[in-house]
Amino acid sequence: MRIESEMSRKRCFNPVGIGMVVTAFVVTFLAPASRSFGQGMSAPTKEKTLYQRMGGYDVIAGVVDSFIHQVGEDPAFKRFGGGRSHSSLVATRQLIVDQLCNLTGGPCMYIGRPMKMAHAGLEITQQEWETSMKFWKTSLEKSEVGEPEQKEFLAIIENLRKDIVEKPDGNYPQGGKSTTQN
Ligand code: HEM
Repeated sequence: MRIESEMSRKRCFNPVGIGMVVTAFVVTFLAPASRSFGQGMSAPTKEKTLYQRMGGYDVIAGVVDSFIHQVGEDPAFKRFGGGRSHSSLVATRQLIVDQLCNLTGGPCMYIGRPMKMAHAGLEITQQEWETSMKFWKTSLEKSEVGEPEQKEFLAIIENLRKDIVEKPDGNYPQGGKSTTQN
């Protein structure tokens, strides 16, 4: 008796039957919808990242190299370059490329220090910052980056100002440590 009712319950729950019903539902209702999506409608296009619109990794690396070159050429930035090995400069350059590749939506990971920490104690002034922004602008133009992309890129850099500039009003006395306290 018990066995009998067990068997009849098993007969009621028929996984094969349910599978067939689900398959029929998919074939009847969902498959035609996906076919028409493939034929008529275009898949929603993902907006291109700034990284892509700028031209990718090599363009960003070129912009960074041009920026570093201008900093190196300007006597007003001499105090930042002293006492560093070539490999240390190359490592910093790579970190800046990685960071900007990442911030523009590219496939890079930035593993350097946070901006505040990396620049703490350098006492970068507002004036130095303004000059450096001109270097970025020149670098973008040299790399023939489009106007809208230039604006977006410069906005990303500008966003870092609050963490990098330590002397918003002060001037760093060339060749000596600043005596003014923040
Ligand atoms: C006036 C502008 C700037 C000056 C003078 C400056 C100067 C420096 C100096 C001297 C270092 C080396 C610090 C050290 O190794 O102890 C450094 C590191 C670094 N800077 Fe700048 N910087 C400026 C703006 C920027 C901007 C706009 C960015 C980002 C786009 C940036 C990204 C970095 C990165 C990623 C490092 C390396 C961080 C690390 O070693 O973990 N810097 N900077």
